[in-house]
Amino acid sequence: MSDRTDTPEGTEALLTRTQSAGNGPGNPEVAADASASKAGKIPFMKHESAMLHVTGRALYIDDMPEPKGLLHVVPGLSAKPHARLVSIDLDAVRALPGVVRVITAQDIPGENQTSPVHAHDEPLLATDLVQHVGQPIFAVVATERAIARRAVRLARIVYEELPAVLDIDSALENGGALVWRPLTMERGAVEPALEAAPRRLKGRVTIGGQEHFYLEGQVAMAQPGEAGEMRVWSSTQHPSETQHLVASVLGRPHHLVTTEIRRMGGGFGGKESQANGCACLAALAAELTGQAAKMRLDRDDDMVITGKRHDFRVDYEVGFTDQGDILAVDMQLAARCGWSADLSGPVTDRALFHADNAYFYPDVRFRSLALKTNTQSNTAFRGFGGPQGIVAAERVIEEIAFATGRDPLDIRLRNVYGTGTRDVTPYHMVVEDSISDLVMTQLAERCAYRARRDALRAFNATSRSLRKGIALTPVKFGISFTATHYNQAGALVHVYTDGSVQVNHGGTEMGQGLHTKMVQIVMSEFGLDAQNVRITATTTGKVPNTSATAASSGADLNGMAVLDAVSQIKARMVTFAAEKWQVTPEAIRFTPEGVRIGESLVPFRDLVWQVYFARISLSASGFYKTPKISWDAATGRGRPFYYFAYGAACAEVTLDLLTGENTIDRVDILHDAGQSLNADIDIGQIEGAFVQGAGWLTTEELVWDKEGRLRTHAPSTYKIPACSDRPAIFNVTLLEDAPNREATIYRSKAVGEPPLVHGVAVLHALSDAIASLDGYRHCPGLDAPATPERLLRTIMQVQARAAQGEPS
Ligand code: MTE
Ligand code: MOS
Repeated sequence: MSDRTDTPEGTEALLTRTQSAGNGPGNPEVAADASASKAGKIPFMKHESAMLHVTGRALYIDDMPEPKGLLHVVPGLSAKPHARLVSIDLDAVRALPGVVRVITAQDIPGENQTSPVHAHDEPLLATDLVQHVGQPIFAVVATERAIARRAVRLARIVYEELPAVLDIDSALENGGALVWRPLTMERGAVEPALEAAPRRLKGRVTIGGQEHFYLEGQVAMAQPGEAGEMRVWSSTQHPSETQHLVASVLGRPHHLVTTEIRRMGGGFGGKESQANGCACLAALAAELTGQAAKMRLDRDDDMVITGKRHDFRVDYEVGFTDQGDILAVDMQLAARCGWSADLSGPVTDRALFHADNAYFYPDVRFRSLALKTNTQSNTAFRGFGGPQGIVAAERVIEEIAFATGRDPLDIRLRNVYGTGTRDVTPYHMVVEDSISDLVMTQLAERCAYRARRDALRAFNATSRSLRKGIALTPVKFGISFTATHYNQAGALVHVYTDGSVQVNHGGTEMGQGLHTKMVQIVMSEFGLDAQNVRITATTTGKVPNTSATAASSGADLNGMAVLDAVSQIKARMVTFAAEKWQVTPEAIRFTPEGVRIGESLVPFRDLVWQVYFARISLSASGFYKTPKISWDAATGRGRPFYYFAYGAACAEVTLDLLTGENTIDRVDILHDAGQSLNADIDIGQIEGAFVQGAGWLTTEELVWDKEGRLRTHAPSTYKIPACSDRPAIFNVTLLEDAPNREATIYRSKAVGEPPLVHGVAVLHALSDAIASLDGYRHCPGLDAPATPERLLRTIMQVQARAAQGEPS
């Protein structure tokens, strides 16, 4: 293969499929519509880096050729969860041969601060106080990474220990200090509605956290330039924020710092804010030594230093009818946020935004508590709090199902949002396009849910140590950043005189296929094949002031910005051609065969050359901002989401009652990606997200000891799903004929995060298996993660209750 095998070989690799225009009410100001119908086809392609990935030639930061004299940075970490730093003796560290420099907070020329939300509560290096085990106190810069790693252990630090608060329960017992304002969402009057409800119950569900386990750990490399310039390669989902924080730590204006990232080996939210520490320390080392410096965290250090998915404790009360219709819901969602605010505010907000999942609550109140603890600063993780809210909503459904003796699917179907009625969310946004009903019904039919449920019950009736369970759960996920200003994007497109095109945009690639989708848009608009469209590394030097690639909005935002840039260049080419060939602009079309100008067919590159010769610019920057959205946290009202993505999953499991071991036997997923930009990539996203969601709710467990040390800080103790944990039967289907009602890029829908929620079906299938032990009379109250240990405990509780014949 040639060196440029990251694009499909020849046009044979380019499948095309018909792109019908959306049938929803369009926004005339958005060009997507017109171009979708005009383009007619979206060129289809595999991941633009697939060949590089599988041949090991895709460059990650640690693979880049190293600059001469590169130094290596390793952080020295706190051993205590909460303590005053009495003294720090680093003499022995400095004395180790190969150590070039030791950095402490005093060496920081600018601000010792990396809070991504300007909370000013996150020093880069601790000064007089440490707030979790693993907090960086100093950094060693050495000629070799192994030397720096040895050197950090020679530090002599004296701590004066302070009381540490480690988890949600003890945080609440100790007064519940918060890292962020609580949010309340309220509609109707929840108390009177609960009072008046014929049935009422209260409960609690606890939901575990999750380590991101990106395959490429945190890494950054910095190279000083002239006159105060600093170039930083950072494995970051948020290059602009990395740029801003590096600049602030160095005490420089933004324009002297450039951040660049070609691709990450996974981010999953873990590199939205958590990448900044490495970038800042590498840049600081480069600044202080005048040499290039790299910081690549050891896996254990990575897990001990960086924040994870928030674990939650949700206390709920629900009022309902004998038929299982929900009348009122009151919930408090408390989250372990760790030692600093980080993104915990928006994460706990998003948990509230999803604590209704797909269901209409006539009277409702949600409250969040973003609790401060002496643990890692919890952060973004695929779904950003949404999945935790949904787990709580689904527990409420399960409770009602057992209380009324009905199939949970029937309770779900009774309570889904309607269209035109029963369609207002707890945050007063109207759900205009609820299709949860349709998606669940279609999936239930396709996978024969009801027949299989009966068959499993028959199996369970005679099986001694194995029990089977099945569950079908929906997801409705809000798309847009809830911080409205984040919903903007830019792009930069250059057409060169040989007809080849370079594209740059504000989004980052972490394996999700964003760059591929952007290339497809350019191909589709210009009629080019993949070899002629090159996507370049994301850099703050090309597209400035970008948002994090997060909230699943990468393709929505950047796709429209790319389209805007391409449309400007096309418009100039069309104006030129219309005049030269004396045709109307409507008579000009960009097709894979070339540019049709009236009766003539002109090769794209020939037209480009003529446009250049006529001294017309062939470069444009594009911009996009999401229309229609607004959100006011003070009143708890607005339309925070441009639209919702929908889906449903059905999971079947077998559980061993003697060991708690279990297998996921079959999973069927029906998911709404709108008019998918790339069905292969979207199905890959759904499969991966499901497995990640199932791992979160079953095998992945974070354990801290009483001293606040994370004991699960390596793959030896933290169990992510393996290939063999993939369901034996795994059917993933995209919802057909489902163009987005809103005028998104080619009527597609965001797909990155919502399908993680499909893992919830596994939790409920396990619960269903356990419920068989007492004849499905009680809600087992299975919390997450449902590890074999927790399953066994729950099994024994249910068996004990069944033995006592306890009434319901
Ligand atoms: N897929 C892969 N392969 N790797 C990742 O790190 N991150 C997820 C999702 N899918 C991720 C992924 C998360 S958390 C988000 S927010 C989206 O991708 C971000 O990309 P998008 O907005 O382009 O979908
Ligand atoms: Mo994704 S958690 O929004 O990076």
